[in-house]
Amino acid sequence: MRIGIIGAGQMARALGNGWAAAGHEIRCGRRGEIRETVEFGEVTLLAVPVSALTDVLSQAGFDGRTVIDCTNAFEPDGGSMVLGEDAVAERIAKSVPGARVVKAFNLCAAEVWAASERVFEGRRLAVPLCGDDEEALVRVEELVRDLKAEPVRAGGLSRARYLEAMSAFVVGLWFAGADARAVLPPLEAAFAVED
Ligand SMILES: NC(=O)c1ccc[n+]([C@@H]2O[C@H](COP(=O)([O-])OP(=O)(O)OC[C@H]3O[C@@H](n4cnc5c(N)ncnc54)[C@H](OP(=O)(O)O)[C@@H]3O)[C@@H](O)[C@H]2O)c1
Repeated sequence: MRIGIIGAGQMARALGNGWAAAGHEIRCGRRGEIRETVEFGEVTLLAVPVSALTDVLSQAGFDGRTVIDCTNAFEPDGGSMVLGEDAVAERIAKSVPGARVVKAFNLCAAEVWAASERVFEGRRLAVPLCGDDEEALVRVEELVRDLKAEPVRAGGLSRARYLEAMSAFVVGLWFAGADARAVLPPLEAAFAVED
């Protein structure tokens, strides 16, 4: 697959290197190269700060392209993070009609994607995806598997705001020194069972 990455920072490098190792063609676009980068890719990863999105989205046409939104609208709040905006993926979809937006890869730090493996305590990392377009979801599922992780369909794009809020909540736990992984039971114990 040809993947154009807008941004050349931590997430661009970590995800781009992983996809390149899996055989995909990658082009990272710095400032001034956004139009060519979008035109290059069948898939575009937005790997810029949320504050840059309005500018970035105004520079190219995304019609019919799969657009992966890994952004978090984090703003510092004391020793933690809050969201400066509560529905970024929906905003992207509204501002670029025809783009097939999928929210993904926003929960884990770039270091997780830069590592060689993503198996923790014997379980492969799961990556929630929110999107409305079947073809785009299938593409992003493939890209998740190529990074040796497991895609999880987490609903339409209207649910991406919960994934965005989850990132701020989880980071709050991690910053407080709590293991976010410990706060949820496994699926088989998640609901009340009959006596
Ligand atoms: N890092 C993580 O662990 C992580 C995890 C999950 C999600 N995210 C999200 O992923 C996104 C990228 O994070 P990152 O850590 O990769 O950031 P980063 O290392 O700071 O890189 C940001 C990139 O965006 C570019 N950029 C900034 N403003 C731009 C503009 N107006 N036009 C074009 N390019 C612009 C920067 O270029 P310059 O160098 O020229 O400024 C840089 O290449 C953010 O939304 C973040 O919330 C990050």
